[in-house]
Amino acid sequence: MKNLESLRREYMSRVLRVENLHINPVTQFEIWLNEALNAGLPDANAMALSTATAAGKPSVRIVLLKHVSSKGFSFFTNYESKKAIQIKENPYGALLFYWNTFERQVRIEGPIEKTSEKESDEYFSARPEGSRIGAWASPQSRQIPNREYLDALQENYIRLFKKSEVKRPLFWGGYLLKPNLFEFWQGRENRLHDRFEYTLRSGGWEIHRLAP
Ligand SMILES: Cc1cc2nc3c(=O)[nH]c(=O)nc-3n(C[C@H](O)[C@H](O)[C@H](O)COP(=O)(O)O)c2cc1C
Repeated sequence: MKNLESLRREYMSRVLRVENLHINPVTQFEIWLNEALNAGLPDANAMALSTATAAGKPSVRIVLLKHVSSKGFSFFTNYESKKAIQIKENPYGALLFYWNTFERQVRIEGPIEKTSEKESDEYFSARPEGSRIGAWASPQSRQIPNREYLDALQENYIRLFKKSEVKRPLFWGGYLLKPNLFEFWQGRENRLHDRFEYTLRSGGWEIHRLAP
């Protein structure tokens, strides 16, 4: 393996100025996400989702952002997975986007709640049939004996749904993270990056520059 200590690059491509930030962090996020999408970055809507147990033991994994609005950030998953168990006992999370081509990261924190059944149904029915069967077939985060076990479950559900529509399983649906903190990070030269934090106060969003 290469010597990791010698791996470094300078972040030089852009600057972030307070006067160029939108006063609404959701709009600012949408501007950055749109730039990443328009540049064709693969998985530009992929985000690290961090959750923790009631005792504060953290876990992190990638999920896909499926909707963003002033209400929050939504993603879809199995309601019996490890993340779901953690969200149930500690309904708070953190999201992280990293768009390396743009030398940008965005962190977002806030409470998490389930989306409505209607929103989960709508998104589920828009998924390709193979993914809908996959949701039924995977006891997400549980130990399984081997690949054949998963393939057999998939085959079973394909047979079961041969003549009927693949409806959303009740153990699968959406979550909404309602942000109360954002940080926009733009890489700069000599590790002196630009960082701006938005915090939600009673009067609205406050913006502060943070030291890199
Ligand atoms: C690019 C990418 C996108 C993913 N999108 C999702 C997703 O939208 N929902 C999901 O449940 N898992 C998704 N996963 C899988 C999760 O990272 C994770 O393995 C799974 O949700 C189980 O996590 P848990 O055991 O912590 O609950 C994705 C993984 C990658 C690498």
